[in-house]
Amino acid sequence: MSKLSIIASKLVESGKGILAIDESTGTCKNRFDALDIPFTEEKRRQYRELLVTTPNIEESISGYILFDETIRQSNEVGESFADILKSKGIAVGIKVDQGKVDCPEGENGEHLTIGLDGLDARLKEYKELGAEFAKWRAAIYISDVMPTNTCLDQNMEALADYAVICQKNGIVPIIEPEIVMSGKHTINQCYGASSRALSKLFSKLESKGAELEGLLLKTNMILPGKESGQQVSDEVIAEQTMKCFKENVPTQVAGIVFLSGGQTPKQSADRLNMINKMFGGKPWTISFSYGRGIQQPALNAWADEAKTDEQSQQELQKAAKNCSLASEGKL
Ligand code: 13P
Repeated sequence: MSKLSIIASKLVESGKGILAIDESTGTCKNRFDALDIPFTEEKRRQYRELLVTTPNIEESISGYILFDETIRQSNEVGESFADILKSKGIAVGIKVDQGKVDCPEGENGEHLTIGLDGLDARLKEYKELGAEFAKWRAAIYISDVMPTNTCLDQNMEALADYAVICQKNGIVPIIEPEIVMSGKHTINQCYGASSRALSKLFSKLESKGAELEGLLLKTNMILPGKESGQQVSDEVIAEQTMKCFKENVPTQVAGIVFLSGGQTPKQSADRLNMINKMFGGKPWTISFSYGRGIQQPALNAWADEAKTDEQSQQELQKAAKNCSLASEGKL
């Protein structure tokens, strides 16, 4: 096994998954504002310290994805968050894309994720800071005219280039094409857009010579749009999601992890559980890389002055444990 495939397989080892705490400053502000949490660097540090120091979280979590600010931060006695995680046997990941611009020649509202300029040098620095894996997210929207082929092509090209640059640096890339859940689209439209994105992505990865065993796919489940009004059972979501993967994802890929993407923590865990119950983790290990799907109850508790930090950490443990069980179909 190559070094990359060892790191990638460990991230999806049995009963474990990834916790994403890599919200950019803007996204973190939205989350804090929604709960009236003062938005300062120190408050962000305190919140991330709470997440990083949660006791026994390593029983459910194999890796944390950090943001640039967070990988440089430390606890109150000066121990870096990266070192704290490593001392628990948790791998350190880093978000390396640098946000989005309007997609050139795409439809109004389509975005292109950027960040390839200087990526090689940034990865070298992140490696020094302790990172073993990275993440890049491309957000794809659905409407009657979206996603356009142009937008898909440009985003999947950037994702594949990012993956190859990571692997050259000995960093495992998590490649994240996210078909965004907000919108009025049907589950069939989500299936179609996801299929187009994944088939394009893997043909680019293969033509650029990426090592599929040394990367993880992070993506959405096949779901109806949040504003569609369509009701679909967890069984149908599981079937459609796995059908889409079987048609488009090579079996060599080390593992597939989901984002929660606006599902509640319960939906995120229940649907992951259903997928693993019905398909037994075959042919890929299927696990989680949730942000809100694990953090939200802990953040709600942290915003509540009547609750202690320990109570917030218990919420994090509980949500992570549910996802851990779901990753084995045992919830
Ligand atoms: P959510 O699980 O909150 O969607 O975040 C996961 C993530 O890392 C999105 O890039």
